[in-house]
Amino acid sequence: MNPIQGKRILLGVTGSIACYKAADLASKLTQAGAQVDTILTKAATQFITPLTFQAVTGRRAYTDGDLWGHDAHVLHIGLAHQADLLVIAPATANTLAQLAQGSADSLLNLTALAATCPRLLAPAMDGGMYTHPATQANLQLLAERGARIVGPEEGHLASGLVARGRMTEPLAILGHIRQLFAQSGALRGRRVVVTAGGTREPLDPVRFLSNHSSGKQGYAVAQAALDLGAEVVLITTTTALPTPSGAQPVLVNTAAEMLDAVQQACQAAEVLIMAAAVADFRPAQVATQKIKKQTGAPTIELTPNPDILATLAQQRPLHDRPLVVVGFAAETENLATNAQVKLQKKGLDFIVANDVSAPDAGFAVDTNRVTLLGADGTVEILPLLSKTEVAEQILQRVVKLLNNATAKPKLP
Ligand code: PMT
Repeated sequence: MNPIQGKRILLGVTGSIACYKAADLASKLTQAGAQVDTILTKAATQFITPLTFQAVTGRRAYTDGDLWGHDAHVLHIGLAHQADLLVIAPATANTLAQLAQGSADSLLNLTALAATCPRLLAPAMDGGMYTHPATQANLQLLAERGARIVGPEEGHLASGLVARGRMTEPLAILGHIRQLFAQSGALRGRRVVVTAGGTREPLDPVRFLSNHSSGKQGYAVAQAALDLGAEVVLITTTTALPTPSGAQPVLVNTAAEMLDAVQQACQAAEVLIMAAAVADFRPAQVATQKIKKQTGAPTIELTPNPDILATLAQQRPLHDRPLVVVGFAAETENLATNAQVKLQKKGLDFIVANDVSAPDAGFAVDTNRVTLLGADGTVEILPLLSKTEVAEQILQRVVKLLNNATAKPKLP
């Protein structure tokens, strides 16, 4: 389901110190399953060689020298027509000006003129060059013609200036490319709310009760929904993982905060997937000052937290939303039986049961072994998979349920 898989991407590299980042981008795109053909401008070859790109992509990297080779009359047309996407990263002020003008004086410019695929430009230059009215006008024109402009970012520049001009990091560009290819996915136009991480229930200003959830499974679910073109609200307790590009993050701590955030996000959402490990109980009293050890071991009284899923499931008939609600069950024994009870009690469409006592499944690891139990009585036992693969399986099921739900005629 990774939307970059099998895509042909033409990477244009122009003369900037950020060329070293372009090699990383080429490598990341290749690892994501794309076929990457690179074109370097003459200025780019002053910073980096075609061999670097050939080594990381396993494919030819072209320069202006190839323009006059034996393929000369068709090379730029062939490259342009085969491409699913043209990415120019870094894109210098000079290249942006040439693209805006429609120059045809280099292999990259010729190819860009001939290409009809979408294009993504990642500018990189010194701060003053970026803010110059000419560069701004060129960027505006290119955006009006449909180019997606990513960055530049604020930060330290080669000149020593701290200003806006740094090329966006390759991982973030990869996220934008992923989003571009996901636009026509099965969840386009749908809003999916995903929760991730373990809630933190404060005891005093410095301590809290929590659990081992890292957020990995929830983030994988969010990415899988984005890969299908969904608009994703990611309600999370962690800042340790990078937000998947395109997701709207909402940071919360406690179960009560998560309930508020979920209720708000679900007003306009078709799907809710709760991968978060929500504390069932919280300390009944939160001390206003740090609890001192001199006063002896405290007795902590707990009080129940609201059940977020059950609350949402109860409200569902009133609001007609979300159409599909998915829960997880973290179990250490009687996996299927316990998950079945939660499925029914919480009014879910299906539940993802995982045995969190297994060393290769559940909390914090990169793999999971889950069983999907449906409200329709279906039971699907999945083998050990990466959390990404588990997330893809969950989303496939969500798409089917959503299609069924929206295909049903409304009762008068
Ligand atoms: O984050 P990772 O390190 O990747 O680990 C992934 C995971 C183990 C946390 C994940 O796969 C998982 O199992 N998440 C659910 C954990 C959990 O809280 O399970 P539960 O059986 O206690 O709760 C059942 C369901 O009710 C869950 O969807 C939970 O989000 C929800 N819940 C629980 C309590 C509560 N007060 N409100 C809820 O909505």
